[in-house]
Amino acid sequence: MPTSNSAATCLSLCAQFGYMAAAMEYGSECYCGDDSYLISTGSTQGPEQDCRIPCSGDPNYMCGGNDRLSYYKWVGDPLYVWHTPTGADMGSYQFIIGGVVIPLLTTTGVNNKVMFLEKSGTGPPNTTGTYELDLAFINDFSKAWRPLHVKTDIFCSGGVTLPDKVGRQLNVGGWSGTATYGVRIYWPDGSPGVPGVNDWQENHNELALLNGRWYPTAMIMANGSVLVIGGEIGANGPPVPTCEVLPRPQGGYAKYLDWLQRTDPNNLYPFTFVLPSGILVIYYNEARILDEVTFDTKTILPNLPGSVNNPLSGRTYPLEGTAVILPQYPPYNEPLTILVCGGSAERDHMAVDNCVSMQAEAPNPTWLIERMPSQRVMTCMCALPDGTYLIINGALHGIAGFDLAKEPNLNAILYNPSLPVNQRFSVMATTIVARLYHSEAMLLPDGRVLISGSDPQDGKNPQEYRVEVFNPPYILSGAAPPSFTIDNRDWNYGQGGIVIIANIPSGDLGSVRVSMLAAVSSTHGNSMGQRTLFLAVACFGPPGEATCLLTAPPNEHIAPPGWYQIFVLDGKRPGHSNWIRIGGVIADAAGIGDWPDFPDFSTPGLGSIDS
Ligand SMILES: *[C@@H]1O[C@H](CO)[C@@H](O)[C@H](O)[C@H]1NC(C)=O
Ligand SMILES: *[C@@H]1O[C@H](CO)[C@@H](O)[C@H](O)[C@H]1NC(C)=O
Repeated sequence: MPTSNSAATCLSLCAQFGYMAAAMEYGSECYCGDDSYLISTGSTQGPEQDCRIPCSGDPNYMCGGNDRLSYYKWVGDPLYVWHTPTGADMGSYQFIIGGVVIPLLTTTGVNNKVMFLEKSGTGPPNTTGTYELDLAFINDFSKAWRPLHVKTDIFCSGGVTLPDKVGRQLNVGGWSGTATYGVRIYWPDGSPGVPGVNDWQENHNELALLNGRWYPTAMIMANGSVLVIGGEIGANGPPVPTCEVLPRPQGGYAKYLDWLQRTDPNNLYPFTFVLPSGILVIYYNEARILDEVTFDTKTILPNLPGSVNNPLSGRTYPLEGTAVILPQYPPYNEPLTILVCGGSAERDHMAVDNCVSMQAEAPNPTWLIERMPSQRVMTCMCALPDGTYLIINGALHGIAGFDLAKEPNLNAILYNPSLPVNQRFSVMATTIVARLYHSEAMLLPDGRVLISGSDPQDGKNPQEYRVEVFNPPYILSGAAPPSFTIDNRDWNYGQGGIVIIANIPSGDLGSVRVSMLAAVSSTHGNSMGQRTLFLAVACFGPPGEATCLLTAPPNEHIAPPGWYQIFVLDGKRPGHSNWIRIGGVIADAAGIGDWPDFPDFSTPGLGSIDS
């Protein structure tokens, strides 16, 4: 702050980013920090008269001197509270199985198995690069991993689960040449303990993107089509500043987006979300709402604040942070809140130590800054069934890419949006496994989080095959999990009276909550598809066999068409999920079940799930 520096402006800037202490030097410099840092670096108090350079913004007062800081700190209430739970409340990391690949993308399928996709050339020559993990065989390595095959290199692709009646997985883009045009589809089959036989299907002569893309994002639109956006032609190549739609409509074309051109190369894997009023895109340190029909910009939102030392810190690859939509509650008329955590800066690779959130559709929206307990880049965020968010993996410093960040952040943190602002973080358990570039966090149907990957290629940290889970506190609480059955797995918008039969071990039917978590593909901090909704629910009858009536969300802008895991929570304890689909009518209108109509692809057809 060369011309406006004063104790008041410096201290309030620091406070805005969650720093309790501020110091000024040379009249115009402002530094933010913590008391503890002054102590640990051995700073001492000098004579007051050493500080005799007037503040640039308030010459009546002194702002430090030559190599001397004028030091101030907040007294009174702390600016934030970080909870430090102990024991089971910290959650735990647990090794579950050795791996066959270092995945760069994982997806929990509607068959309750987890798809792992590795780039070509990372693993040993005998790997197929693509495996499905069946957790029912977790103690039998050879059965746990079923090999599948892709024809082109999925480095670095995007993915979503399609809203068709079988929940096919779609993977787009890659590296290099024809692979960047790649459109790969997998129809998940089998069930836990029962191996599937289906494989990835792909033929770029039949089905390809309009523009080749390395690092694109994919998203299910409210109208059931798939949006594919952004990327580059290849590593450090020219940008691909366009978006396109699958299945390709009549006369479909790639729409040019000048703002992706302008912010290249810091906008890759942009974060995209369906909003009631359009499509929210977050890229580099910018955000805007697009018209969902034309993809023209409707609203330019304020830029995302960076870190305290650099307002230009960014949030998307390679400055890679992570982003989610916070839970939506009935009657779903609050503006949606987007949460973006971590990131880094192009200039000095200082990882961002805050999360910022915004109701993009509120009048005059602003970003709220909440300081995280540590700096994080290449971090992942996983929505949990109880409406909290696990922030995990990544590094303390650096940017995303090979050999560009060597100091792992081994500590998980939990963000609970139902707590007051600046009191939402809990410092959770610590792992011994570095999860750097190409690492993932994936919600499992039993409420644990599968932690995989790390492909740092830095000669320091391992190329990581070990697969862990993070057990959130509810898993370790000792409380018996609830369970439920559901016959209706194909929901219409606004449908009421959806019956589930639930066993609620606590016996407290009043404590039952039901959440709905969309299918996710996790790659590069981007949880493509993520969405959490809580449902209106009323339970009655004996707790061992209660009847609960659910009401589906009202429309495709609150819950885009697709597959969601339904979790029943008995107080804090979620049980095992069941998958449902919502919006099949819209998906059918978009022709998803009959797409693509080529000999090398199998299609499930239209209609309801059980037909
Ligand atoms: C590849 O071969 C190595 C050495 O024989 C073996 O340890 C590994 O499990 C094999 N990987 C796969 C995916 O078959
Ligand atoms: C969904 O909207 C996109 C953008 O306007 C359009 O290209 C696509 O055809 C639409 N899909 C359907 C099924 O109408």
